[in-house]
Amino acid sequence: MRTHFCGELNREHIDQTVTVCGWVNRRRDHGGVIFVDLRDKKGILQVVFDPDIADMFALAESVRNEFVLKVTGLIRVRPEGTLNSEMPTGEVELLAGELEILNQSETPPFQLDDDDVHDDIRLRYRYLDLRRPEMQHRMQLRAAVTHYMRSWLEENEFLDIETPMLTRATPEGARDYLVPSRTHTGSFFALPQSPQLFKQLLMMSGMDRYYQIVRCFRDEDLRADRQPEFTQLDIETSFMDEDGIMGLMEAMVQGLFKSVLSVDIDNDFPRMGYVEAMERYGSDKPDLRISLELKTISDLLSDVEFKVFSGPAQDPQGRVAALRVPGGNSLTRKEIDGYTEFVGRYGARGLAYIKCNDVAEGREGLQSPILKFLPDEAIGEILVRTGAESGDLIFFGADKANIVNESLGALRIRVAQDLGLVEDGWRFLWVVDFPMFAHDERENRWSALHHPFTAPGTNDVDALEANPGGMLSRAYDMVLNGTELGGGSIRIHQVEMQQRVLKLLGIDEQEAEDKFGFLLNALRYGCPPHGGIAFGLDRMIMLMSGASSIRDVMAFPKTQTASCLLTSAPSPVSDKQLRELNIRLRKPQSET
Ligand code: AMO
Ligand code: AMP
Repeated sequence: MRTHFCGELNREHIDQTVTVCGWVNRRRDHGGVIFVDLRDKKGILQVVFDPDIADMFALAESVRNEFVLKVTGLIRVRPEGTLNSEMPTGEVELLAGELEILNQSETPPFQLDDDDVHDDIRLRYRYLDLRRPEMQHRMQLRAAVTHYMRSWLEENEFLDIETPMLTRATPEGARDYLVPSRTHTGSFFALPQSPQLFKQLLMMSGMDRYYQIVRCFRDEDLRADRQPEFTQLDIETSFMDEDGIMGLMEAMVQGLFKSVLSVDIDNDFPRMGYVEAMERYGSDKPDLRISLELKTISDLLSDVEFKVFSGPAQDPQGRVAALRVPGGNSLTRKEIDGYTEFVGRYGARGLAYIKCNDVAEGREGLQSPILKFLPDEAIGEILVRTGAESGDLIFFGADKANIVNESLGALRIRVAQDLGLVEDGWRFLWVVDFPMFAHDERENRWSALHHPFTAPGTNDVDALEANPGGMLSRAYDMVLNGTELGGGSIRIHQVEMQQRVLKLLGIDEQEAEDKFGFLLNALRYGCPPHGGIAFGLDRMIMLMSGASSIRDVMAFPKTQTASCLLTSAPSPVSDKQLRELNIRLRKPQSET
C-alpha cells in the first residue's frame, strides 16, 4: 500500500512521488490550505492539501484526528520560515495528489500528544496511547534489547528452554497467584514467581547453559518499578563460579548498551560489599551518580545529654548517621519541614540538622536547634567526618539502623534530585557479600535474604547453625543508577547442605520433602555445581528509555491496584465455572 514510512522522509526524497499511510495526529486549516500531520511507527510527516484539486480538498476537510489515511504525492521542501528543525521530517512536506480515507475514527477520548492526560484514561485506551511516538519508540527499544540478548546468549551456547506456568508455589518471598484445579478439587496451581527451581533442575539435567525470557508473577505491593506480572531474562549455568558468571553478564550488558544505545560502558563494574553499601549509602542498591554519603557518628554521641542521639548511639542495633548536603545552607525552614515529613514515611521520628554558615568559626559559625546539646569535640569531629564546608547543611538520623538507612538513604536521593546533584551517566556496580539470612524479630525466625537455594559463602560453612546471622551468601546483585537490575547466586548443589539450610529456615524434614522433595531428590543424582542470575527486563528497558515507571515500557500493564483497565480484569466469573471448580464464594457482608 505504501512506498515509504512517514517518519523517514527528508531532504533526500525531495521531488520524489511517494505513498504513505498513517493516522491523523492533527489537522489544521490555514486560509484555504489544509495541513495534516500524519503519523506512523517511524514518526510524523506534514501533508499539505491544496484547494486546486477540489474533490480531494473536500475529502481532506472531512478528515478528523485518528482517521486512517493513504496519501500519494510529491515531497517538497517546506517554504522558508516554516522549517521545523526539531522534527526529523521538519524540512520537507508532502504535497498531496491523491487521498484515500482507509478508516474513520470517533473523537478520541484524549488528544494523543497532550502530556496532561490521566494514566487511567491512557490505560483504558491503551491501543491509542501506544500510537504515541514515545511509546512506539519504547516498544521498538524493548524488541531491540531482547533481540540482542537472544543472539548474544545463543552465540555463547545458552539454550532457550521454556518452563511451566502452571506449577507449585516457588519461594521468592512474595504472595502467589493461584489457579484452582478443576480435576483436583481443593488443589491449586501457583503461577511461578520465577523459574528458579526449574532452571536448577535443567542444570541437573545436563543442559549446561539455559536462558529464558520469561513472565513471572508476584502478588506484592506495587511501586513504580514493580508489576504483578513482569519479565525476567533468566539465566543459569553449570560449572562456573561467581567471577565467571559476573564476567559473562558484564560482557553481555556492555555489548547490549553499545549495540542498542551506542553507549560505551567502560570495563568497570565495581564490586561493593553489602555492609559497605548500607554504611555509605543506606541502601543495597546505591545510586553512584550521587556523591553524597552517610557517615556514622554513633561513637561520638553515646554520652551526650540529647537522648534522641545517645539512645540509638548506645543501642547495638542503633545507628546515628550524618548526611552532608553541599550548598544546603540555603534550604528554607519549609523545605526542611518537607524533608522531615519525607523521612517520616520511612519511620524516622525526626530530622535534626545543622546549618554551616562559617565552619572556620566552629560552634559560633553553626546554626541548629540541637547545637546546645552537643559538646565541642563532637561538633568538631562531625565537621571533619562529613567534610562539611561553609554553605553546607548536615542532616542527622538516629534510630534503629534499618530505619536510619532507609530514611537517610531515600533522603540522599531526594535531596540530590531537588538540588541538581545527580550526575549524568550509567553507573553500574555489583553488590556482593550479602548476609545469608535475615532475622525476623516479630516471628523470631530466620529467612533467606536471596532465596533458600543460594549457597552459603565459603568463609566458614560449619558456622551455619552456630551463627546464622554472621553467614554470608554467594549472592550478587547488578545495580544500575540506584535500581536493582538483576540478582543471582551460586546455588547449593549438595543435598545435605540444602537440608541444613531449609531446617535453619524453620522448614522441618517432612515439609521439606512435601514442598521440595523433587529438588532434594534431584540433588541426590549427580548435581553439577551451578549458579545463575535473573534480570528484571522491564526495569532495564525503563532505565534505557528514560521512562519513570516500568508501566511505560510494557504494552499492557496493570494499575497500582493490580487490575487491567483495558480488559477489566480481574472480573467475576459465572456460577457454573465456580461450581466446576468447587469454589463457593462467601457473600459480601451487605448481603448476609
Ligand atoms: P529476584 O527475586 O531478585 O531473583 O528477581 C530478579 C529481578 O527481577 C526484577 N523484579 C521485578 N521487576 C518488576 N516487577 C516486580 N514485581 C519484580 N520483582 C523482581 C528485579 C530483580 O532484580 N530466581 C531469582 C534469580 C536467581 O537467583 O537467578 C529471582 O527471581 O530487577
Ligand atoms: P525534639 O527534641 O524532639 O524537638 O527534636 C529536636 C530535633 O531533633 C528536631 O529537629 C527533630 O526533628 C530532631 N529529631 C528528633 N528525633 C530524631 C531522630 N530519631 N533522628 C534524627 N533527628 C531527630
